[in-house]
Amino acid sequence: GSERTLAIVKPDGVWSNHAEEIKKIVLASGFSILQEKTVQLDEESAASFYSEHSKKKFFRSLVQYMISGPVLVMVLEKENAIADWRMLIGPTDSNKAKITHPRSIRTMCGTDAEKNCVHGSDSDQSAQREISFFFSSETPGGTVMGH
Ligand code: CMP
Repeated sequence: GSERTLAIVKPDGVWSNHAEEIKKIVLASGFSILQEKTVQLDEESAASFYSEHSKKKFFRSLVQYMISGPVLVMVLEKENAIADWRMLIGPTDSNKAKITHPRSIRTMCGTDAEKNCVHGSDSDQSAQREISFFFSSETPGGTVMGH
């Protein structure tokens, strides 16, 4: 049946002006954008969003990257949305994406394993947690930017 996933255009994607192009790809690929907002995360909320990676060597750098500018957060819906969005964005490492998924979004706007331009939930459980994180009650980390 119909499924929901959380997509993020990360600071590098927003600054390089890829957000509108990514939204066009999203819609052309059959997803509905149920909700969207542009948010400036703070350190605490970025660390909380990525808490499963808190023991990784790249964690501090990941948090700094994610707070380096506004992110565009979207709830996407379609059949098989979680796997299809991850297929569309390509592998985590943008340099690997350039080889194995040349038409992927990370090939288009990612730089490396960290600065990979976009995020997608990796499971139904993650999707539910991540959608609630950004769209339930209070905005994590404070600042919702105007459109
Ligand atoms: P994302 O799919 O949002 O989930 C976790 C993020 O951690 C990932 O994208 C990258 O931004 C970052 N990340 C994952 N692996 C590495 C790595 N090996 N080195 C640096 N950053 C990474």
